[in-house]
Amino acid sequence: MPHKKYIVAANWKMNILPSSAKPLVSEILFSYVRNNADVIICPPYTHLSNVSANTIIAGFYLGAQNISEHISGAFTGEISADMIMDLGCTHVIIGHSERRELNPRENESIAAKIKMALSKNLRVIYCCGENLDIRNAGREKSFVLDQLIKDLYSLENLDSVIIAYEPIWAIGTGKTATAQQANEMHQFIKENLSVRFPSNSASLKILYGGSVKSNNARELMEQEYIDGVLVGGASLNATEFIAIIDAFNN
Ligand code: PGA
Repeated sequence: MPHKKYIVAANWKMNILPSSAKPLVSEILFSYVRNNADVIICPPYTHLSNVSANTIIAGFYLGAQNISEHISGAFTGEISADMIMDLGCTHVIIGHSERRELNPRENESIAAKIKMALSKNLRVIYCCGENLDIRNAGREKSFVLDQLIKDLYSLENLDSVIIAYEPIWAIGTGKTATAQQANEMHQFIKENLSVRFPSNSASLKILYGGSVKSNNARELMEQEYIDGVLVGGASLNATEFIAIIDAFNN
């Protein structure tokens, strides 16, 4: 099998202070040995400018955790695609389950947010995944397929879309999906998206997220349909995060 290009993305969520962002990224870069994985750091908005100067090295990218579906105007508290790009972002996470849970309107705005991001040439890390009740009821595949249809199927292509499968029951819980469970869902996602978007079937990247740590990264990496990871808690510790990046070096 030809070597894959992996992606290791960090979702800092609402953690650490802007003043601690630079030291954390510096620590990561200090131990980073150039490798084959692309690394995307997604700090809170307030940290972006502190991190941007440090991520301008080959293979490192800066992302935000959300954007508005609107271009600009009277949307108090919202942040636009242009604003994050002005601070150096090339990527944006859209549809994270924590946002979907926090805001009842989120599910309805995801397709529009993705279209806004793509219209600005941002790359999207699109999150999908089921909760524990749905998994226990054995409905996880139909649930995820419904999310894909609703959020992605109206796009022309997935050229600039990276998928992140994040089972909600595995996020921040220490309970990781087994590598086989993740692989099976990734295969299902890939097969369905390949039918809808045949031109993307070879290039599509699907990341796994949910309690990824240095001690499970290698096993995840070895799965056929896993193209990388989206890391929450463990991305806030430079040693852990570097060990995860190293696991995806091939
Ligand atoms: P976690 O978060 O690694 O802390 O489980 C993953 C995510 O929510 O992206």
